[in-house]
Amino acid sequence: MSTAPGAGGGRVLLAVTGSIAAYKACEVLRRLRDRGLDVRVALTPAGAEFVSATTFAALSGHRVIDGNFTDPAPEDVAHVRWGEWCDLFCVAPASADFLGKMALGIADDFPSTVHLAVRGEVVVAPAMEDRMWEHPAVQANVATLRQRGVTVVGPDRGALASGREGAGRLADPDRIVAAIVDRLASRTGALAGVRVVVSAGPTREHLDPVRVLTNPSSGKMGFAVAEVAHRRGADVTLVAGATSLEPPPGVTARRVITGEEMLRALLDAASSADVVVMAAAVSDFRARQPLAEKLGKGDERGLQLDLERTPDILESLADLPGTRVLVGFAAETSDVEAKTAEKLVAKECDLMVGNRVGGDSGGFESDDNEVVILDRLGGRRVAGPAPKAEIAAIVWDAVVDFMERASDESPESPRKAG
Ligand code: CTP
Repeated sequence: MSTAPGAGGGRVLLAVTGSIAAYKACEVLRRLRDRGLDVRVALTPAGAEFVSATTFAALSGHRVIDGNFTDPAPEDVAHVRWGEWCDLFCVAPASADFLGKMALGIADDFPSTVHLAVRGEVVVAPAMEDRMWEHPAVQANVATLRQRGVTVVGPDRGALASGREGAGRLADPDRIVAAIVDRLASRTGALAGVRVVVSAGPTREHLDPVRVLTNPSSGKMGFAVAEVAHRRGADVTLVAGATSLEPPPGVTARRVITGEEMLRALLDAASSADVVVMAAAVSDFRARQPLAEKLGKGDERGLQLDLERTPDILESLADLPGTRVLVGFAAETSDVEAKTAEKLVAKECDLMVGNRVGGDSGGFESDDNEVVILDRLGGRRVAGPAPKAEIAAIVWDAVVDFMERASDESPESPRKAG
């Protein structure tokens, strides 16, 4: 199985354009380097007004090309060489003007010229006033870029340079870095040849033909985990509970309703898998004897529920013969990290992703999540709040990183026998 993770290896050309948020590009650069990426910086003339080339040269360890295409070694044909050099071209912050040049292919300064020589991935993180961002011209340019396969990160809502509140703030550096790492990992197929099984969504247990026990899980987290794995080259089977989400293209989907059905589908799929991710929110209880007929509301039996435990799927997966990486999700309403650490051990998982559920932000129904990821070799990372797609990318970084450390420790098996 291929192991190259999102982190470690990869060349990024970071273009900085004129925006009050240009200073945040220093943070993006620093975090990219922390992840083992080689980064060069190019500045537009307006970008150079905000942060000096000297700062970026010190942070990147490379010469910076700034301003009006002042190439210190013209024989290099620097725009072509830099375009060929990079695996990914990122513009952060990207001004309205620069997005327009990219959409139209205008090349009148170094970063816009090198853009046309890039054949790798492209990520842009727009930053501007909300009125500019909302303008149909800017929206049309962004749509053109998206159609061309460019990843657009943000902008976020919040306080703008004008003092107004609105959509236009540069996305958080963490989100920009996560998008870059994800695009690079997709490109290298970091999970190529890896067989992945993901469970997602809630299970549903009938009390009678019209009433169910379930939970508010949307399935979005597990679907995002499946989608990112597929993008990174894995062969993915998604066992989806009671959710109406459409499975991501390219993923083999199996629909189930009850915990028992999910158990059977997963035992079947997991026997030949390298990694199993249990992102499903399995209902812990079911009626001991579901009623065949609808219970009338006057019927006194309705006031008392006679419940029993559903099977613990993770426990059964941990007991399955063979070796595979087992990833659980811990849904907690308090003490998230401590309880995640407990479940990592109790459920014999290799990794446990803890997230807070209930309350106003993150968790079950939200588009965003905030997690702590622990592994049994002592690895720990925290991520979010961020869109579930980004959290999913970081979960896969953690899994691949764990697999590498586990194979260093014991080349035979990524996972101790259950
Ligand atoms: N899980 C499972 N089978 C169950 C219940 C949960 O496999 N019957 C899995 C979930 O998919 C998740 C992990 O166990 O990966 C933790 O689920 P969680 O709901 O946080 O914990 P529980 O095991 O249900 O324990 P508790 O409700 O007591 O916190």
